[in-house]
Amino acid sequence: LTSDTRPDVVWLHNAECTGCSESILRTVEPYIDALILDYISLNYHETLMAAAGHAAEKALWDTVAAGKYVAVIEGGVPTAPAGTANEPGGHGKVGGHTMLENTTKVVEKALATITYGTCASYGGVQKAAPNPTACKGVDELFPGKPIINVPGCPPNPYSLVGTIVYYVTKGVPELDSVGRPVAFYGESVHDNCPRQEFFNMDQFAPSFGSEEARKGWCLRKLGCRGVETYNNCPTVKFNQYNWPVQAGHPCIGCSQPNFWDGEDWDGKT
Ligand code: SF4
Ligand code: SF4
Ligand code: F3S
Repeated sequence: LTSDTRPDVVWLHNAECTGCSESILRTVEPYIDALILDYISLNYHETLMAAAGHAAEKALWDTVAAGKYVAVIEGGVPTAPAGTANEPGGHGKVGGHTMLENTTKVVEKALATITYGTCASYGGVQKAAPNPTACKGVDELFPGKPIINVPGCPPNPYSLVGTIVYYVTKGVPELDSVGRPVAFYGESVHDNCPRQEFFNMDQFAPSFGSEEARKGWCLRKLGCRGVETYNNCPTVKFNQYNWPVQAGHPCIGCSQPNFWDGEDWDGKT
């Protein structure tokens, strides 16, 4: 990519924890400064941008009005009415407008929308039962729009950077049945897990921190969902160094729809 071909990007924060932005700050290929200055033109990002107030709002809506931008959405979208006026989506506001209203305007005119993180892709923790704000994922809210899901809680920044570069150079990548790029989500966590040889030998760690767990025995009996979960954690790793199962914690399925409640999963232990 050259400076002439850098895509304009607007990045919205909805109902979320900002862990996904924390994740992208740790990208190393390229580093975050090169990403937002050389690879893309990041016109609006509430956590990173220097502008505030009306100047920030202007940067957002000027980009939307120009109509040639990629939207990155972080966080689920509250849709339930709230407040004395029973305003739709009134549980979350930015700049005096509901997240529902802002996201609708931004997604409607975007060349493509990338949902970054399970909250934005599928609703995430905000959508967990009983979901009092009627929070929804962007994919569910805008069927038919060009939406690419990059889920995870948080996702690996490698998957977002790769998706943006692929989209800008070649268009929408091949997606799986829940809208994820096959290049990053085509294999299960279990497919590439270094503990798999112990799974195959029926050697399961009996407790966290046990000698067996430290020796690399399988964490399935401690709740690991790596068999049902599609993500590139074992091969890409976080910070190129470690990932949950390597650190001794089961995969909790964070890149799967409804992983908090588990109702959409194919298999259960
Ligand atoms: Fe935070 Fe996880 Fe939601 Fe990302 S997907 S904003 S890390 S809760
Ligand atoms: Fe599969 Fe999880 Fe066992 Fe790894 S720890 S082999 S992902 S069940
Ligand atoms: Fe998430 Fe499982 Fe990877 S919990 S970070 S998909 S190991």
